[in-house]
Amino acid sequence: MSKTSIIMDVDTGVDDAFAVLFAAMHPDINLLGITCVDGNTNVDQVVANTFKVLDAAGAGDIPVARGAVRPLLGKSQYAEYVHGKDGMCDLGIAPSHRTVDPRSAVELLRDLIESSVDPVTIVPIAPLTNIALFLGAFPETAKKIHRIVLMGGSASAGNATAAAEFNVWHDPEAAAIVFQSGVPISMYGLDVFMRPTIDREEATTMSKSAKPSSQFAGSLALGFMEQVKTDPVSLGDYGALALVIHPELFTTEMFDVVVDTSAGPARGQTIVDRRGAWLKQLEPLDLEDSAKVRVALDLDVDAVVKLWLKTVNS
Ligand code: BDR
Ligand code: CA
Repeated sequence: MSKTSIIMDVDTGVDDAFAVLFAAMHPDINLLGITCVDGNTNVDQVVANTFKVLDAAGAGDIPVARGAVRPLLGKSQYAEYVHGKDGMCDLGIAPSHRTVDPRSAVELLRDLIESSVDPVTIVPIAPLTNIALFLGAFPETAKKIHRIVLMGGSASAGNATAAAEFNVWHDPEAAAIVFQSGVPISMYGLDVFMRPTIDREEATTMSKSAKPSSQFAGSLALGFMEQVKTDPVSLGDYGALALVIHPELFTTEMFDVVVDTSAGPARGQTIVDRRGAWLKQLEPLDLEDSAKVRVALDLDVDAVVKLWLKTVNS
């Protein structure tokens, strides 16, 4: 099987760490680079955290670029209550010696897509600010994106607010730009996001492993359990990568989706039109603002968890 070429966009973040670890270690993924964005924490902390994850993965020299420092409109709203002050549960993990790429996130995206001989899949697991800026800055290169498989949105309830999922809520204008871009989009949203999990027993075993990747992931999962007072905890963002390389483990459906950018209580909601054809034709969703999006609705939880464990413990 040929490798899938991927660029990740992250706001590392505990579950981003689970995802980056997986992408850097899975033999079928060619991780071309990583762009960092303001989201769970500030972008400099995101870069520092991402480097620590790459160290734990034993990854080679994967370029990591600094991106947007705030959403397109409005202020940053960090998720310290979920990920801790440093975004990775304040475990005091030693800093990395890696250095940030001199290019900005949008420049790195441009260069990696232009130079790739294989189709490139973008996997944003963070607010979509970098991706929206890239689409506007380099529209010709953007046409070469194979597809975007993102963690964000929900076809049901929200988490940041009753209506909105954090990544879309943090920068709804950016999300609207990305959804309406015409690039094929798959959405790994809250309908599936919480279901693949790791429990205390598994995390404890991993934390005692001699293998740096297992040790790192296990300790982080245990730190996360303390932080959010839950056991088990979700592998979160990682699932978007499973959707890229193992779509047969998922049930997905195409829907019309609109991102709510209004100032009201639904700001940042992804309105997913799940009505049947007959009702839809009576009162269609605003076609100018809507996008056809492939939405993940169900998954083989056991297989998705096993895939992560096998890769990170390998
Ligand atoms: C998303 O928000 C962030 O806190 C997580 O890293 C994930 O990307 C879930 O809503
Ligand atoms: Ca994230």
